[in-house]
Amino acid sequence: MVFPFSVAVSFYSATVISILNTIHDSKSSVQAIAAVASNRVIGDGGRLPWSIAADWRHFMQRTVNSALIMGRVSFEDMLNEPRWAADGRTYHVVSRERRFANLGPVSVHSSPMEALAAAKAEQRTVWICGGADIYLQLLSECDRLWLTLVQKEFTGDTYFPHWQGEFPLCHELQIAEENGLKFTFTVWDKAAKLAANGQEA
Ligand SMILES: NC(=O)c1ccc[n+]([C@@H]2O[C@H](COP(=O)([O-])OP(=O)(O)OC[C@H]3O[C@@H](n4cnc5c(N)ncnc54)[C@H](OP(=O)(O)O)[C@@H]3O)[C@@H](O)[C@H]2O)c1
Repeated sequence: MVFPFSVAVSFYSATVISILNTIHDSKSSVQAIAAVASNRVIGDGGRLPWSIAADWRHFMQRTVNSALIMGRVSFEDMLNEPRWAADGRTYHVVSRERRFANLGPVSVHSSPMEALAAAKAEQRTVWICGGADIYLQLLSECDRLWLTLVQKEFTGDTYFPHWQGEFPLCHELQIAEENGLKFTFTVWDKAAKLAANGQEA
């Protein structure tokens, strides 16, 4: 059973990593990870609308040795990260065109469900990494959501889907602000709702 808790810390420290690692317990699970503004904006013009180093460290820390699913635009943005191909990540990119064929740990799939099947076949943790259509199509397949809630509304063109009905809040780590932005690392777990309804996850 998981319990809600709240911890005040000022940056993504070893303490936070160690707390979050106790949550990251289920291999082969399907989990989504996103930073979401208070109006559910996640992107603008192909980029993140904010720069929060702690959240990027959080993303890179969580997704080591895992299978990542992302749309073509998000993957092209990921290529700006020098360590994108390091730390045992594989990428299942969703695109209607076959590109990136010669890029290391990358495979291309014509639909989110095809990408999910290929990622699951790796038998490692699968991370749904956006963008909008990928989150929308695969949200119901997720066991858990790791959402960094940015406590401000942003102008943008890409949104995270509504999630609260299916995923109860299970963990919340209150983080102080960075670049004038306040944000909170949160974990939402479908198992908590299933347990409340007397069903197994
Ligand atoms: N805040 C966050 O945590 C977060 C996370 C991820 C992304 N983002 C932001 O979100 C934006 C990118 O998201 P996006 O929704 O615009 O793009 P995206 O999902 O990353 O990529 C869109 C592309 O993926 C392919 N695609 C998407 N759905 C498909 C489907 N059902 N079947 C086949 N192909 C499909 C298509 O590629 P082709 O055109 O090649 O056919 C489509 O043009 C950026 O601004 C990024 O920074 C934010």
